[in-house]
Amino acid sequence: MHILPILLAACSTPEPSPIVESTPEPTAVEALNAMDTRTPVPLQPMMAWHQKQNMQAHLVAIQGITAALAEQDWEGVSQASVTI
Ligand code: HEM
Repeated sequence: MHILPILLAACSTPEPSPIVESTPEPTAVEALNAMDTRTPVPLQPMMAWHQKQNMQAHLVAIQGITAALAEQDWEGVSQASVTI
């Protein structure tokens, strides 16, 4: 009879270990987006993409204008300005 408590203790199930919620590391894009605190203009994705391509073309145009200006290439300035 003295062995009964020992047998019961041996049959008891161990406490389940608590589930530790781990937050996954943000991706590089998520981390980059979190750094940008500006509020984007609310556009449909296709329109935002179209806008971005337009803006990128503007940057190329300005690069062409300033490069031509540095050379005093007025014809080049004129041609690069057409794309803006
Ligand atoms: C020389 C002229 C311009 C240059 C060089 C320029 C350049 C840029 C650049 C670099 C961006 C960010 C693009 C990106 O996220 O990759 C941008 C965004 C934008 N630009 Fe321009 N831009 C010019 C003129 C304009 C004009 C005239 C308008 C409107 C009347 C405009 C409206 C916008 C809008 C709505 C965005 C998106 C803003 C957002 O992220 O929510 N831009 N522009």
